[in-house]
Amino acid sequence: MYQPPQVRPSEITPEGVWQQRRRIMQAGALTLAGGALSLALPWPARALTTLGRIRPSPLSTREETTPWKAVTHYNNYYEFGTDKEDPAEQAAGFQTDPWSLRVDGAVHHPRTWALEDLLRGQTLEERIYRLRCVEGWSMVIPWIGFPLADLLRQADPTGKAKYVAFETLYDPKRMPGQRWPILKWPYREGLRLDEAMHPLTILAVGLYGKVLPNQNGAPIRLVVPWKYGFKSIKAIVRIRLVEEQPPTTWSLAAPREYGFYANVNPEVDHPRWSQRRERRIGEFFKRKTLMFNGYAEQVAGLYRGMDLKKYF
Ligand code: MTE
Repeated sequence: MYQPPQVRPSEITPEGVWQQRRRIMQAGALTLAGGALSLALPWPARALTTLGRIRPSPLSTREETTPWKAVTHYNNYYEFGTDKEDPAEQAAGFQTDPWSLRVDGAVHHPRTWALEDLLRGQTLEERIYRLRCVEGWSMVIPWIGFPLADLLRQADPTGKAKYVAFETLYDPKRMPGQRWPILKWPYREGLRLDEAMHPLTILAVGLYGKVLPNQNGAPIRLVVPWKYGFKSIKAIVRIRLVEEQPPTTWSLAAPREYGFYANVNPEVDHPRWSQRRERRIGEFFKRKTLMFNGYAEQVAGLYRGMDLKKYF
């Protein structure tokens, strides 16, 4: 989190396949090129094919997407190294099959989901969302996923549920970064229940028409587009509904620098740098950062009456 961003121009190569696919979608075709995905296949085999039955989301931005190469080779994933180039290399052999996701806590129906069962019958959407990192760079990524609210509704939160706590896998054998105390492992994140239920909040299982690459958080990661990227926790194994605001990795590590809310806010600086401007990866000039990362119309109401300097 501490390095200023540097992407070599050679890393940014346009994804011809994607552009072609996008033209197909713009032409109104709902089925993506590449054929349907058989959910009967084990996950790694599915990873070789493209995802099927995906519909484009009306919640997508129309901005130009960041090239595939940058999205998948300029990552933050401390379980697989602290340099941006590390995760693509170090997570290459990470085993994500089988995978289970436990949903419990203040819910009427706690359940351990096999990823297969979770995705069976799920309508996946392609949603082109911005990701704005606290370090000052941003990307526009065509995620594939489904609303977190779908899963939470199935668990049926009790009246006590006020927050949602997320946990990444803890397995230092498979996640070598966890052998060092760089962060308090496992990586943890949290949302207020209304933020978690918001339709913009998704669980992503793919990007650019493909199964999520390991470095981007396979097999399942959170995407909360109006918050700084560190809220978008990767490789989730547990989602717990809780009464109190849960501890989160970066606010445990540096509470003055990273708050629980972490809403993208150009008015609230990081103690060591301004958050007014950002560099969209692939662009030369910086652009102005928008309140709530450009999603103010949809989410500002969640924070009405709150002092966002205090609750940063
Ligand atoms: N999740 C885990 N488990 N470990 C991490 O180190 N990094 C976060 C977030 N999720 C991180 C994580 C940060 S700081 C960012 S900016 C985003 O992932 C980056 O997502 P991307 O690599 O897919 O762009």
